Amino acid sequence: MSCKRIGIIDSGIGGLTLLKELLDHNYAAEYFYICDQANVPYGGKSQDFMLSQTQKMVKRLKEKNVDLILLACNTLTVNTISKLRESFDHPFVGIEPYLNYLNRCQEAQKQIALILTEATYKSERFSDLQTKFDHKNQVAIFPLKKMAMLIEAWGTAKKSFNEVESEIQLELSPLKNKGYTHLILGCTH
Ligand code: DGL
Repeated sequence: MSCKRIGIIDSGIGGLTLLKELLDHNYAAEYFYICDQANVPYGGKSQDFMLSQTQKMVKRLKEKNVDLILLACNTLTVNTISKLRESFDHPFVGIEPYLNYLNRCQEAQKQIALILTEATYKSERFSDLQTKFDHKNQVAIFPLKKMAMLIEAWGTAKKSFNEVESEIQLELSPLKNKGYTHLILGCTH
């Protein structure tokens, strides 16, 4: 299926990382990006709230006659994609934390950490991913409360990097000096 009009949804600017990848790989299409910056971050929001907001964004994208909708947001994917597929007759593609890296990484010495939002961490879908790819809980999971918002503030020039750096350092401090060799980014921000 070659998609010529692709809708992209995130809570804020995080999804732009996936749009950049699509453009860098010369995937020719018309892109329609929509996000809910009035309510970012989603990481602390309820599933019902996220579903309601995302349904509104899907309706806006359908007005643009997109062929496919990319949920460029781990939090939205694990919390809403199943319900979106039930309520809309439309192809959706999502993104989920790459836990299977544990099994794909060939390096002998590997201590893997994964950062993600709280709403991703608490979701049933993420728990299923852990059961499927990491039933021994070898990957250290770190739900972060503020990271997405800090990146959103920096990325939209509301705050300079100097203003957010110390808070980002604080968010990541539980990972410091623990010997982690790999970090999985389970959030598009
Ligand atoms: N960028 C999103 C993700 O991949 C959500 C961040 C947020 O709004 O909390 O989870």
